[in-house]
Amino acid sequence: MEIAVKCSKIRKSFGEGNLRFEVLHGIDLEVKAGELLMIVGPSGSGKTTLISIIAGILGHDDGECFLFDQDIDALSDIEKTRFRGENLGYVFQAFNLIPMLSTAENVAIPLLLNHMKREEAVKHAEKRLSQFGLEDKIGTYPKQLSGGQQQRVAIARAVIHNPKLIICDEPTSALDHENGILVLNHLREIVDKENRALIVVTHDSRIFEFADRIVHMEDGLIAETKENL
Ligand SMILES: Nc1ncnc2c1ncn2[C@@H]1O[C@H](COP(=O)(O)OP(=O)(O)O)[C@@H](O)[C@H]1O
Ligand SMILES: [Mg+2]
Repeated sequence: MEIAVKCSKIRKSFGEGNLRFEVLHGIDLEVKAGELLMIVGPSGSGKTTLISIIAGILGHDDGECFLFDQDIDALSDIEKTRFRGENLGYVFQAFNLIPMLSTAENVAIPLLLNHMKREEAVKHAEKRLSQFGLEDKIGTYPKQLSGGQQQRVAIARAVIHNPKLIICDEPTSALDHENGILVLNHLREIVDKENRALIVVTHDSRIFEFADRIVHMEDGLIAETKENL
């Protein structure tokens, strides 16, 4: 089975001099294609830091991280951007939608970056928004949407280009039960049908049942790993 993510002995510190403190103390993690992995753990345990490193958004101090056998650190900035654009979908904890663009345009961004024609990209985006129950929000702008609607737009944007690895930081934090289940069903289907790898950071016990494996983080270390049978 294809290995999507392989991290070994990842260490990360923030701050300088006397204020320097380590938040990841040597993380080993593997995620396979076709697997839905959840990362859970208390606030401040290092979950966002870890997935930011995996996504190449943040550098690390020590250890190695490979995505599909590619050492992200070995790529130039331009190569890294291209690699991420083709292979990765990322949902930020704060959504990070672009306010000047409509919801459909926001969702179309990864396709446009991968050189799809605008009209076609927007059409794909509209279809994806409909799958997330947002067909009546296609022409509206992020600030006209509720938090839960913005979160669904952010998730649609992360999956629109069919990336091999999808990483979601607290993807149901603003969703009610019904929409949380709708989104997870959709993500689960992508994992199963398209053989994609999905990492979900979450506090939300209502969605634990969707995971193949759950990793518990505590104080910058993996404290426990459970298979979900
Ligand atoms: N950019 C940063 N600069 C300094 N400290 C940070 C930064 N990002 C995160 N931290 C600290 O690292 C620790 C882990 O944070 P984070 O990865 O966001 O945890 P989680 O996502 O599990 O809540 C926390 O103590 C947090 O304050
Ligand atoms: Mg976090």
